[in-house]
Amino acid sequence: MSRNHVRNICCIGAGYVGGPTMAVFADECPDLNVTVLDINPEKISLWNSNDLSELPIFEPGLDKVILRCRNINLFFSTDIEANIANADMIFISVNTPTKTRGIGAGKALDLKWVESCARQIAKFATGHTIVVEKSTLPVRTAEVMKTILNSSNDHSKSKTFSVLSNPEFLAEGCAINDLKNPDRVLIGGEDELAINELANIYLNWVPSSKILRTNIWSSELSKLTANAFLAQRISSINSISALCEKCGANIEEVVDAIGSDTRIGNQFLNSGPGFGGSCFQKDILNLIYIASNYGLDDVANYWQEVLNLNNWQKERISKLIVQNLFGTVTGKRIAILGFAFKANTNDTRESPAIQVCENLLEEGANLAIYDPKVSQESIELALGVKETSVDEFSELSSWVKCNSDVEACIGADAIVVLTNWEQFTNISLNKLYEKMRKPAWLFDTRACIDIDTAKKIGFNTWRIGI
Ligand code: NAD
Ligand code: UGA
Repeated sequence: MSRNHVRNICCIGAGYVGGPTMAVFADECPDLNVTVLDINPEKISLWNSNDLSELPIFEPGLDKVILRCRNINLFFSTDIEANIANADMIFISVNTPTKTRGIGAGKALDLKWVESCARQIAKFATGHTIVVEKSTLPVRTAEVMKTILNSSNDHSKSKTFSVLSNPEFLAEGCAINDLKNPDRVLIGGEDELAINELANIYLNWVPSSKILRTNIWSSELSKLTANAFLAQRISSINSISALCEKCGANIEEVVDAIGSDTRIGNQFLNSGPGFGGSCFQKDILNLIYIASNYGLDDVANYWQEVLNLNNWQKERISKLIVQNLFGTVTGKRIAILGFAFKANTNDTRESPAIQVCENLLEEGANLAIYDPKVSQESIELALGVKETSVDEFSELSSWVKCNSDVEACIGADAIVVLTNWEQFTNISLNKLYEKMRKPAWLFDTRACIDIDTAKKIGFNTWRIGI
């Protein structure tokens, strides 16, 4: 079968990865026609909204890229059948959460959305199609993909497929910069022609030295390994933060000291309330599952400890808040500053704020939550409890979403900073202190507040790692 030069690409899944990644592809490659597909019509209509503040995800710089390309060479659509048929290259960028039931529940990735994409591609594709795994997948998923794609009922052989792995390494909150200036682009596969077609797209803006070609299994495993190493670094520094608090060392000084060793490097060493986000935990759980399946229990146990430490960090922070507030938070108002799993995103998936808030609610606290980007609906979904505005000092636990830090602090006994939003570094501590019940506490789990000023104002303070 002859192969056409890639002109039309589509991406199945218009989420945190599919949307920004395809927007950057369209921006950097004016000759490509790029269509992003989703089964969720509301999401697609938000991507098509004229009001760019309605885009389904908040990502700095994304609105400008969308404005430049949308309806020129970037389209958002629910017409999956027609766009698959028309595509020379299809990216699969659907969600791959941890399985909640059946074999491997709580560890293995649920591949039902990926499988359904493969079946749709097998059915609707025409001619030769390059299928690219963009989602994070267990090693050897490409084998399953090939089996499904090649089992199409079309016996005329009028359709053929090449499968590539091209995992995405972007981080939320800086996705556009990560996509425009990636540390590397990884392409795994066997079909040289297909690899070259994909590499040629990236070469429009990525230097060739940054495009790595590997076998397909190395590519799939590298993505899980990268996330496991990043998460491990956070658990490592969080373990040391706890030690600092006991022995009089200062975590920021320790980080400066170790980070200036070029072998260690100074990035990703901020201690905090534990890592969140949709991927670190699920990808490590998957790594653990894969290792166990190969009988490598010691490997599985090693990675399990990274998760255990992360959970421990969230629990220890919740406990120390309660202990410092005279052993009880029942009926006390606590201002929660930040609910997103990190700054510059509205994403709350696996946010450490969820566990800390749940623990405080369990203790009977009234939480006043302020986050500049997270909606009331997202908090409700994450906590699984409806927002209830209760009378001051009610003994029934409750939470309420506030529109500003000042509003959250009215009558509060404590402030707990849980997300490293830039605006929290410039917070007006005097104003907040005035509004609070005394003695007023400030718990800074992100080391982003000027703690010396807070002390001078009169706050009792706790800062991570000091
Ligand atoms: P997401 O949940 O934001 O988006 C996935 C989208 O796929 C949803 O909108 C869903 O409706 C759609 N979808 C599911 N099945 C579909 C189908 N059959 N047809 C059409 N649409 C379908 O997920 P995400 O955060 O973008 O993650 C996608 C993948 O990328 C995951 O494997 C994740 O591990 C990986 N990843 C995520 C990030 C990140 O920062 N979020 C970074 C790198 C890699
Ligand atoms: C992470 C990886 O950084 C990306 O490379 C990867 O593509 C992505 O996961 C994925 O596969 O989904 P992301 O989860 O968006 O990206 O955000 P990170 O910046 O990695 O932060 C993850 C969590 O670790 C956040 O809760 C953050 O606050 C925390 N963190 C990060 C720290 O506590 N300390 C740090 O020094 C860095």
